[in-house]
Amino acid sequence: MKLTVGSVKIVEVGPRDGLQNERVTIPTEAKIAYITALADAGLRVIEAGAFVSPKWVPQMADTAEVYGEIPKDPGVDYPVLVPNMRGLERALESGVKSISIFTAASDTFNKRNINKTIDEAFENYVPVMARARSEGMRIRGYVSTAFGCPYEGDVPPEKVLEVCARLLDLGCYEVSVGDTIGVGTPMQVQGVIGILRQVIPASKLAMHFHDTRGTALANTLAALEMGISAFDASSGGLGGCPYAPGASGNLATEDLIYMLDHMGIETGVDIRRLVKASMVIAPHLDHPLPGRYLQACMRAAAPVSVPSTAVQ
Ligand code: HMG
Ligand code: MG
Repeated sequence: MKLTVGSVKIVEVGPRDGLQNERVTIPTEAKIAYITALADAGLRVIEAGAFVSPKWVPQMADTAEVYGEIPKDPGVDYPVLVPNMRGLERALESGVKSISIFTAASDTFNKRNINKTIDEAFENYVPVMARARSEGMRIRGYVSTAFGCPYEGDVPPEKVLEVCARLLDLGCYEVSVGDTIGVGTPMQVQGVIGILRQVIPASKLAMHFHDTRGTALANTLAALEMGISAFDASSGGLGGCPYAPGASGNLATEDLIYMLDHMGIETGVDIRRLVKASMVIAPHLDHPLPGRYLQACMRAAAPVSVPSTAVQ
């Protein structure tokens, strides 16, 4: 395998994409402790929450409190999701420096997620971007359903390219290309990236894989081969979008780091500290974290039980 990528930027999305879909209410203090532990592990971009409607996503209702209370590491960027001008105003009131806007590559998902078609979303983002840029904010863009839509099925890569290009034209510094429902496979990933890269430099693309069907790590490898060096992941494999039926967690950050560490690719993240960060949030969930590396750590820590038949 020939790779040109020597280091990878990881965007940790556990505190946002991870927690937005949890059934139980996570205490604000637990979110603050979790984000603090993620920064201690060496993560340099940590998505801290979302200024979306609390009626649509109740788990993100305390983003202002969370953002206000996290001890800000000067070396860490703490972006938040913003869907409209109301969200931007809330972000500005909280002193946020970095935001992400989001749309999909399919209209039906976009209507379900933000109550707007793709064109309506862009109309809405023009003044939001203008204001955010005038305030000196850094703005990232997300394109959901880039590898398949839960309502429309296949999504043409040309549509993904169009939406990515529109986000970059609006002033996003990077676009995160999302496999929202985890249907993508490695050859498809390389096909989509090949089309995007005809117009967009690899340095402006990040990949956002959900691991619903166990393909997230293979897709990451496929994207690395295409020169992509920015990946979104969530510690412990937390995650899912509340408006994508059946969507499960993101690629687990530990699984990503384990693979990259053993490929000699720099990330700046200490995997042992990252496991500790996942263990900060784990007791507040009503299910085990699905990340494979984390699961292996827990099995190794647990006493091995010997079946009674073995000692007879
Ligand atoms: P709407 O109902 O069309 O909005 O929702 P509206 O403008 O008609 O407002 C309705 C009410 O919401 C009003 O309150 C507004 O004030 C309030 P009321 O008068 O009824 O009391 N409101 C807000 N409150 C707080 N903050 C705001 C805000 N905006 C309006 N920013 C809206 C439109 C966009 C607001 C809604 O659809 C929404 O919040 N959607 C967010 C959904 C979401 O967060 N989804 C998950 C994130 S995306 C994702 O996970 C995918 C990603 O991970 C990538 C991938 O995996 O592909 C990024
Ligand atoms: Mg996502």
